[in-house]
Amino acid sequence: MVWDVETIKRDVAAQVDAAATLDVLDAVRVKFLGKKGVVQEMYAALPAAAPADKKTLGQQANAVKVFVEELMAGRKAILSLQAKGAEAIDVTLPGVAREPGTRHLINQTLEEICDVFERMGFVIQRGPEIETEFHNFTALNIPLDHPSRDAFDTFYLDQNDPDAAGRYLLLRSHTSPGQMRVMRKHKPPLAVIIPGKVYRPDAVDASHSFMFHQIEGLLIDKNVTFADLKGLLTAFCRKFFGEDVKMRFRPHFFPFTEPSAEVDIQSDIFKGKSGKWLEILGCGMVHPKVFEHAGYPSGEYTGLAFGLGVERIAMLKHGIGDIRTFTENDLRFLKQF
Ligand code: DAH
Repeated sequence: MVWDVETIKRDVAAQVDAAATLDVLDAVRVKFLGKKGVVQEMYAALPAAAPADKKTLGQQANAVKVFVEELMAGRKAILSLQAKGAEAIDVTLPGVAREPGTRHLINQTLEEICDVFERMGFVIQRGPEIETEFHNFTALNIPLDHPSRDAFDTFYLDQNDPDAAGRYLLLRSHTSPGQMRVMRKHKPPLAVIIPGKVYRPDAVDASHSFMFHQIEGLLIDKNVTFADLKGLLTAFCRKFFGEDVKMRFRPHFFPFTEPSAEVDIQSDIFKGKSGKWLEILGCGMVHPKVFEHAGYPSGEYTGLAFGLGVERIAMLKHGIGDIRTFTENDLRFLKQF
């Protein structure tokens, strides 16, 4: 005589599978592995069995015992997880690989530019994106009737908002207000760069966006000259655009610097645009009115300042034709950098 092991196994499997709680599962365990359980019955029958059957019957009892134990353990693990409220995890399913991301090209470019100035001793400072009219304009000697104060060129916030406390608040239209915040907090000598987002209500097209990034630079000490400004920006351009970059300082007007200039460069790294002069930044010597607003004693200090547009530089450097691609979140574009 031998046992119908397959039927016993099927019976065990059905009952273990059907056990919906740990308590029910334990009852199944008692039924098969307990003192009066099926496996025990099989062992108990051995002494009375015919000598020729004993070996087979013993092996069958062992096999059923192991089968029940393994099945129980698997079901118990799942029910325990469920009891803890965790979802049952099927470790045999293929995993979901996460692709490592990269820094956005704008952040990469911003950091590269900041790196060059940091190695020259400049310290990074941050200013608020919501500014007062005073810091964004008045303190920078931008007169009341200057066109950039017009609501069409600046995002104004609701003056009646309790947070505004009656002041004119706006989204900064350049990083230059950061100059005043640093000057009012620290005494010269100082050398800072102020990177960040700026906002202008421009109609969006291939070269305009209502939000873009600038990096402001400010160095103030006794006897800082225009030669220092030229030397500093030349050193930066050589480091960033290559030693053989060609530069020109073109006279320009900014209310907060005097004299002022724009810097154009020619570089082979500008894909498809080599040979063309391209404007990359505005700069100049800090205007005495700005020192006055900062509360610095008249005539004691001189300073240089500059402001550059990060998108423009990234576009020139990588041959990108449309500023909108930076914010469209198209991975085919973003993955290239
Ligand atoms: N704030 C100017 C702009 O947004 C750029 C600029 C020009 C910054 C000259 C400066 C500067 O610090 O000296 O167009």
